[in-house]
Formats: sequence, C-alpha cells, structure tokens
Amino acid sequence: MAGDGYKVGVLGATGLVGSTILELLAARGFPVAELVPFTSERSAGKEIEWEGKALTCRVLSEEAIQGLDLVLSSAGGSVSAEWTPRLVEAGATVVDNTSYWRMHDDVPLVVSEVNPDALQGHHGIIANPNCSTMQMVVALKPLYDAAGIERLVISTYQAVSGTGKAAIDELRTQAQALVAGNVMPEPQIYPHQIAFNVLAHAGSFPDGDDHTDEERKLINETRKILGDPGIKVSATCVRVPVVTGHSEAVNVETREPLDPERARELLAAAPGVTVVDDPAGASYPMAVDAAGKDDVYVGRIRRDAGNDRALDMWIVSDNLRKGAATNAVQVAELLVERGFLLAKPQV
Ligand SMILES: NC(=O)c1ccc[n+]([C@@H]2O[C@H](COP(=O)([O-])OP(=O)(O)OC[C@H]3O[C@@H](n4cnc5c(N)ncnc54)[C@H](OP(=O)(O)O)[C@@H]3O)[C@@H](O)[C@H]2O)c1
Repeated sequence: MAGDGYKVGVLGATGLVGSTILELLAARGFPVAELVPFTSERSAGKEIEWEGKALTCRVLSEEAIQGLDLVLSSAGGSVSAEWTPRLVEAGATVVDNTSYWRMHDDVPLVVSEVNPDALQGHHGIIANPNCSTMQMVVALKPLYDAAGIERLVISTYQAVSGTGKAAIDELRTQAQALVAGNVMPEPQIYPHQIAFNVLAHAGSFPDGDDHTDEERKLINETRKILGDPGIKVSATCVRVPVVTGHSEAVNVETREPLDPERARELLAAAPGVTVVDDPAGASYPMAVDAAGKDDVYVGRIRRDAGNDRALDMWIVSDNLRKGAATNAVQVAELLVERGFLLAKPQV
C-alpha cells in the first residue's frame, strides 16, 4: 500500500468494461494512491482523464507491472492467460473479468452478494463471472437459500455492449444506414445484420459443440457460484439490438415448494435486487431503465402454468455495471475490508 491507498492497475482501461471500472473506482471512493491504465499498443501513450489527473496509457511489460497491489483486468482472455500469473508473481492481486480463469479449480468465481466467502484463501487471482450469469445468480441466491434449485430454463436477450465497443458501433452504423435508406455496410462483428434483428446465438460455437460458449458459461458458472453441481441448466443465449442491459427469462424449478408471493418477498429483501413487478400497470424491468445502474431488476414473478414446483421471472441488469465493472470493484472492496488484498499470494 502506498500513501493513503493502493497502487491499482486497470487492464483494458480504454474499453467498455475498463472505462466503467475507472468511473466506479472514483465514484465509490476506492482508496487509490496511484492508478496505472494499461491498453494495447493501439492506445499506448493516449491520455485518460481520471480524478482531475491526466494518466498516460501504458503497454504491459515486466517493468511496468512492478509494485501494483491490485489489478482489475478486462483486456481479453489471451491477455489474462499470459499476464495474470506474471502480475501475481510481481505481488498484485488480480480481479479478472475475462472467461480465462473462471473455471479453474483454485480460482474463486465471486459475486459479492452471493459467495463472498469464496475469497478466503485465494491464490492471487479472483475471477468475475460472465455478465449473464452474474445478474441471474444475484436474483437466484435468495430463492436457492429458501427452497433449493432443481432446474433452470433460461433464455437471454443480450445487449451488443456485451461484445465490446466495436459491436455498439456496428449496431449504430447499421441502424443509421437502414433508417436513412442507405446501403447497409457488411457486418463485421456479428455474422448477420444486428440492427432491427434478433440473432439466435450469443457468443461462438466451440468446435463440435451445439451450445455457444455463452450458454456453457451460464451452465457451468451458475453451478460453481452456487456451489451445487447438481443443478440442471438449460440455456439459450440470444443477441438483440439493445445497446446496454441484458434481459433474461428464467424458469426456476425449486426443490422445496415456493410460491410467487414468498419469492417476491425474498427478492425484495435481497441485497443488490430491486423488484419491479406490477404487470397490470405494465411495470416490469427494462434494459433502458437498468442501463447505468448497479442493481439487478426482477419482475414478472409468477407460477409456471405447467409446473407447480416452478416459477417464471424476468431479470434485467446493466451488463457493464453489475455484469462486469461493479462486481469487480465490489470484490476489490471486499478484499480490502477482509484484509485479503495484501495477503502474500501463494502461487
Ligand atoms: N462488455 C461486457 O459486458 C463484458 C462483461 C463481462 C466481461 N467482459 C470481458 O471483458 C473483456 C473486455 O471487454 P470490453 O467489452 O471492455 O471490450 P472492449 O470495449 O473491446 O475493450 C478492450 C480493451 O482491452 C484492451 N486491449 C486489447 N488488447 C490488449 C492487449 N494486448 N494488452 C492490453 N490491453 C489490450 C483495449 O485497448 P486498446 O484501446 O488499445 O484497443 C481496450 O482497452 C473481455 O474479455 C470480455 O469478455 C465484457
């Protein structure tokens, strides 16, 4: 720890997640003595304004990573694969937003409201879950504690910001061309037109798999975070032309009986959850309302008409906030509060 705070590195500082992390570190008053923004060669040397100071973006190097106490990383899986062990070796604790470390047995996968105790005994790397999984488990945790979960059937409606900055540009460019009646440019990021369309897959199909990597993340990460490998999960991940805010229709079959009224009470009392559920008044969570906020919004809570043991609900959250940056900063806060940040990593 230096001065009255920590030396903090933000990897991918010019990206959608990284720039949101920078905003939240300042807004939440995280104790930062020195902040080092890291980017690729493309943005190296560029200045970022943070807390009234101009910070120069740097590329990763052995020299540049010395002395960091904490690194919040969102520069892509291959960067995390290569640099996280080096950062830990150099003495930093790393909270990683990419998918690379999430399913490693000795890496805790932590959602601050759900399994903060998993931080105990970490070895220097903490993984931040996938955005769709993150918002869902915040809403599932109180139901899981009350009644257990036997099976989940999930359909996601995922915003393009989940794919990064370039995907937002693609949606805007296509939408402008279509509205103006101009020829639409060839899609670069998605395999098909995303403007005014719905794509029946989010993520990519690993070789030989009929599920996308996003669907596998929902299945595997949910089980790891809730600590229950027996939960059956069926997932379909869909990309929709929304800029920010993932929506999810989730059918939850519980192990013990749970009625919708009790579920609504449990959710209303749960940390990080806001219930918006007045269907008659057309009041339910919407991506445009969730964008820029930290909570997970839940509505349309009702009995599955075909299964007495199941509930249906609609879960919405900002994928860049609780789905990524907010949780990463909350995990960093927990590391400080619990005295785990400066524990010497054992790698
Ligand atoms: N978007 C989401 O909702 C979300 C949610 C959870 C997790 N994530 C994960 O977070 C990561 C970043 O996502 P994003 O949406 O923020 O992407 P993005 O907007 O495309 O930003 C990528 C960032 O990574 C930097 N970068 C790229 N290559 C690098 C390298 N070799 N060394 C250092 N920095 C490098 C880029 O710097 P330049 O300016 O130099 O290009 C930029 O700052 C991904 O792994 C993604 O899966 C995203």
